[in-house]
Order: sequence, then C-alpha cells, then structure tokens
Amino acid sequence: MNSTPAPGRNDACHCGSGKKYKHCHWSADQGSPRADASAKPIGRAIRAVQKGVRGRNNPVLFKTPEQVRGIRKASRLAKDLLDLLEGRIQPGVTTLQIDQWVEEATRAAGAVSAPLGYKGYPKNLCTSINEVVCHGIPEARELKEGDIVNVDVTPILDGFYGDSSRMFLVGNVSAEARRLVQVTRECLDLGIRQVRPGGHVGDIGQAIQAHAESNGFSVVRDFVGHGTGIEFHEEPQIPHYGQRGKGHPILPGMVFTIEPMINAGKHETKILADGWTAVTRDGSLSAQFEHTVYVSETGVEVLTG
Ligand code: MF3
Ligand code: CO
Ligand code: CO
Repeated sequence: MNSTPAPGRNDACHCGSGKKYKHCHWSADQGSPRADASAKPIGRAIRAVQKGVRGRNNPVLFKTPEQVRGIRKASRLAKDLLDLLEGRIQPGVTTLQIDQWVEEATRAAGAVSAPLGYKGYPKNLCTSINEVVCHGIPEARELKEGDIVNVDVTPILDGFYGDSSRMFLVGNVSAEARRLVQVTRECLDLGIRQVRPGGHVGDIGQAIQAHAESNGFSVVRDFVGHGTGIEFHEEPQIPHYGQRGKGHPILPGMVFTIEPMINAGKHETKILADGWTAVTRDGSLSAQFEHTVYVSETGVEVLTG
C-alpha cells in the first residue's frame, strides 16, 4: 500500500469523483466495520433512550423523514446494482469484471462507491467466494463452476448510504452449498421479521442463530450488522446471535443493516495477509445476505428489498 496522505476536507476526494472530500468519502473513512468497534457510543445511545430522549435530532441514531428519503434512494440504487449482476455472473467471469460493471453503473447514477478508499480498501465492492466470509477483494481470478460468491455493494448517493449484498451461484453448485445459501437467505428474512419498534436487537440475533444452528451451521461473531445511512458504519451494532429481549432497543427512525454470515462449519474466522479478506478458520463454506432496513412507527421497511 502506498503512503499518499489523506486529502484535506475541502480537497478533491481520493476516489476521483470530483466532489470535495468532505462531501464524498470523508465520513466513510472515519469508522470501522469490525465487531469490537464502538462500545462507548452504544452506551451513550442507550443512556439517551433510558432518559426518555426521543433522539429525533440525533443525526445518526434516529433519521429525519428527509434523511430517510435520501437513504431510500441510495438503498434502491444498491438493489439495482445487484439486480444488474443477475444472469451475468457465470464461470469465466472475474471478480474484477464485476467491480467494473458496478463502478460504471454507480457513476452513471451519479453516485460513488463507499468501499473505495475506505480505510485504504482498493475496490468498489467486496466479492467473497466459497470459504471467504466477507471483505474479499475483486481480482483477476476467474469464477469457476460450483463457486458461491457474495457481492456486497454500498453506493453513496447525494451523501446517503445504502448497503446490500447477496449470493450468486456460479453454474452448477453442490446440494450442500445450495442448502447453505438457502438457509442463510432464510436467516436474513427471519431476522427482518423480528424488527419492530419496542423490540431489541437480541430478537434479531436469536431468530437468526436458532435457524442457522438447527440446520447444523454456525453464525459468525467477528462481523456484525450496523447502523447506516448518514455514515457507512454507525451505531448500534447488530449481532446475528443473541437473546430475545436483550441488546440495544429498536426504535422508530433507526436505519440499520442485517447481514448474517453463516458458516457450514465452525464460526471462527481469520484475516488473510492482504489485511481484508476474512475466511473461515476451518476452510468451510460461508454465505451472506444483507439488507438495509428502516424502522417506522408501525414496523419495518426493507430499503434495499
Ligand atoms: N459493505 C460492508 C458491510 O456490509 C463493508 C465493507 S467495508 C470494505 O458493512 F471496506 F471492505 F469495503
Ligand atoms: Co453492512
Ligand atoms: Co455491505
């Protein structure tokens, strides 16, 4: 990695969008998606809720209707970018080609890719193949018959973020890999069904964990869902395991991702020498689906659905 200094907030963004850094990747470059990131801010948010502060003016935890409109558009773009890939991901296609398709479509929509330049991340999106749990980096390697690959996109449109990922099957895929992908999809759906004002993030984690484990699979602990919309990764964290009634309260105005990573073997992960690619420690297959959701007064809206 080279050592180009970060641009000033009023300089042009490092991603080449032509926008000022502060209006483009600045906020994306501030946070971290790792599970151990931010115990302190979560404590503050819970105290605010306990004090009866509705938090409507908190720009991060509770979004204004105008912010929700912006996040809805960015999220719709995330869905469109993934839809664009349906039917195109076949044996022989490289993950670099996927990165280029999405880069073009993102620019054509007047957006930029949040991952590009995020803490030095080199590409527009993540492509996580087979035993890769998340944060696989697009490269010149060709996808081959039988691979399963997650593609994770996060466009920034008018300053708002939408974060979504889904699995693609490359040609004919083994029955066991298809079962893993199917159960992971069901885990996301079951998690979303738990989202209601007055609930807790533990309700989501419990539902996901129960479904994964009853199918003989395990839930990754090292990476979690997250608040999103104004910045890439906001509080609170959304673990995909846990206990009903426990964890951060779910309240109207919140926008967060649910993005279960489910392993066919054990849950432990390790990071490869590139500093990004997370793989299963035991080499087993891993699958993931991700949606960004909005908690309304009455229920849940799947913004990337
Ligand atoms: N999109 C991922 C998420 O769901 C984060 C990717 S960070 C990157 O949170 F730098 F690896 F792109
Ligand atoms: Co995410
Ligand atoms: Co994502």
